Amino acid sequence: MSARDLFTLTNRHFKTSVGITAAIFVVTAIVGFIVLPFAQPWVQFANVWDAICSAAGVPQRSAAAAAQAQDKRLSEVVLTSHTLSRPNQEAIGRGATLAQRCAICHGPTGISRADSPNLAGQYAAVIYKELHDFRSGARTNAVMSPFATGLTDQEMGDLALYYAFLPRLPAYHPTPQLPKPNIVIYGAPMRGIAPCGSCHGSLDNKVGSPWLEGQSEAYMKAQLRAFAGGDRRNDISQQMRNIARAMTPQEIDEAAAYYASQPPDIVKAVD
Ligand code: HEC
Ligand code: HEC
Repeated sequence: MSARDLFTLTNRHFKTSVGITAAIFVVTAIVGFIVLPFAQPWVQFANVWDAICSAAGVPQRSAAAAAQAQDKRLSEVVLTSHTLSRPNQEAIGRGATLAQRCAICHGPTGISRADSPNLAGQYAAVIYKELHDFRSGARTNAVMSPFATGLTDQEMGDLALYYAFLPRLPAYHPTPQLPKPNIVIYGAPMRGIAPCGSCHGSLDNKVGSPWLEGQSEAYMKAQLRAFAGGDRRNDISQQMRNIARAMTPQEIDEAAAYYASQPPDIVKAVD
């Protein structure tokens, strides 16, 4: 028998082996691209094509992840060191008028008598960004969000400049000054936590990081827990979520108590 006779469809053996190979190919393709992807209980595919793409390694968002992503809005604010860098008297004056409606919670001098955050002397970029995030829904709070929804960009800018202009006064509920806990002084290099002050102002201020000294302990604890648990996720590039997640509950309590106990008379490091 010559080689030509071997590889022809008239040869029964050749036909059978080609047939079996083709059948194995089809079965493995079905198992690999369709059966196995659907067998994963933790992913859901909208249709067979999605499953095939996923098995082929095409980046896919499962239906569940896509739905989740929709209700998790991210911050849309772009901050640069020039954001609101030019305060002027007129803007501050307009801000003062608008701020009357905020006084009931944030205090007439920008120092809260309850557990709302103090705004007096806060960096203008922070106030502007947080208001923007409350308005867009990137940050949500049942009490605060309604007050941001009606504000225009210019009104937010005016309010930010006004509050940044106010002096940092003693907090309404001062506590005895506490020693600096290690997590605040050193951070935790092994866990990727930089010293808090390297962003938050006492050492250096990274644009968008709030001034924390004198803020209410309950408020700061709640924010750190919200970052750690993912309930607050308006921090750009997850910079604060990564830190809060790596902190122990005890470190969160110590940091919040320490910052709440700090007097306001520290001169603004960088403005
Ligand atoms: C009814 C009470 C209330 C009123 C009125 C109110 N706020 Fe707030 N505000 C809050 C609370 C509570 C928070 C903290 C929200 C949280 O826990 O996430 C907050 C948070 C903020 C923050 C974020 C501060 C930070 O350090 O992250 C800014 C900025 C702010 N408010 C500005 C304003 C401005 C400007 C107005 C007026 C237009 C206003 N608020 C009116 C209660 C109020
Ligand atoms: C890499 C910079 C960086 C470091 C280091 C850092 N933070 Fe932050 N932190 C931020 C930024 C940025 C925000 C504001 C997020 C936003 O709303 O956009 C923030 C927000 C916060 C808030 C919420 C304040 C408010 O008024 O909304 C608290 C509380 C806080 N940080 C505590 C800490 C503590 C405690 C440490 C040290 C263990 C720390 N941070 C280290 C960048 C940092």
